[in-house]
Amino acid sequence: MLQFHRGRRLRATNELRALVRDTKALLYEDLIMPYFVVEASDLDLRKPVPSMPGQFQLGLKALEEQVERFYQLGLKAILLFGIPKEKDEMAKQAYAKDGIVQQACRRLKKRCPDLLIITDVCLCEYMSHGHCGILTPTGQVKNDETLPLLTETAVSQAQAGADIVAPSDMMDGRIQAIRAGLDAAGLINTPIISYAVKYASAFYGPFRDAAQSAPAKGDRKSYQMDPGNSREALLEAKADLDEGADGLIVKPGSPYSDILTKVRAACDVPIFSYQVSGEYAMIRAAGLNGWINEEQVILESLISLKRAGASGIITYFAEYLLEQKLVR
Ligand code: PBG
Repeated sequence: MLQFHRGRRLRATNELRALVRDTKALLYEDLIMPYFVVEASDLDLRKPVPSMPGQFQLGLKALEEQVERFYQLGLKAILLFGIPKEKDEMAKQAYAKDGIVQQACRRLKKRCPDLLIITDVCLCEYMSHGHCGILTPTGQVKNDETLPLLTETAVSQAQAGADIVAPSDMMDGRIQAIRAGLDAAGLINTPIISYAVKYASAFYGPFRDAAQSAPAKGDRKSYQMDPGNSREALLEAKADLDEGADGLIVKPGSPYSDILTKVRAACDVPIFSYQVSGEYAMIRAAGLNGWINEEQVILESLISLKRAGASGIITYFAEYLLEQKLVR
């Protein structure tokens, strides 16, 4: 008679473990690499981001070269963020025809024709005050007045060659507005992958250095989600699907993998996880100090997000994985 469960039976060798593994490996197609492109007179600019060792703000030419190098190594998709020269109270450079992201899209499309370019649709990097929408005189973020600017941003990015637009601003109704705008511009086949489930997270700290987008005053808690909430994630996800989103992003990654699993179970569309800047910074810092086996921790963190239900993962480690040939 069986006395107890012999779980170790299937863990005896590499071969056995590989045979019975649920989530086998990371694939090239799983990875989306974020890039920060800066509008600078020096097109070759490569400015290290201090809180994200290994990440850079890149001038237009530096970006092209960097992306092409990893495209040759198998990079399939990127997520683009722009840092404009001029910021103002209407985020004009976010939707300027020759805005920095629009220029980058045009150049990259020529250089790497099959690369999937996903553009982040948000205004915070382009606003003098660093918030994701238009402000009232007392500093409140106006929702409905912000929607046309987001729509213009998404349309201009798609017209410049973006394959997918990814709104990250968390204004209500933006998916409906952007879908209508894209359709009216004849861009009926441009998918929207919405950051539907985006928490107000301190894990974004290093990103705000990289993108120079920290709010000058206040925080983003009136538009991003409260970390204590779980059921609200489904409300947000379903609202965006009803408004026309084609896929969803849950963000941050590891601390919110319970949310990822829940959204995955409830919504039959592709669901992406974003391993954000703070997660990257913590793993990198511990690795650089020799406190963890960095490579193993990177792999474990990403296979865990895939196991939790991610159809793909936005991660600043994508380049590293390609360089070290850790993907299949
Ligand atoms: C823009 C945006 C942010 C991130 C992605 N898009 C910052 C924020 O909301 O403050 C964070 C990404 C990261 O931390 O890696 N709104």
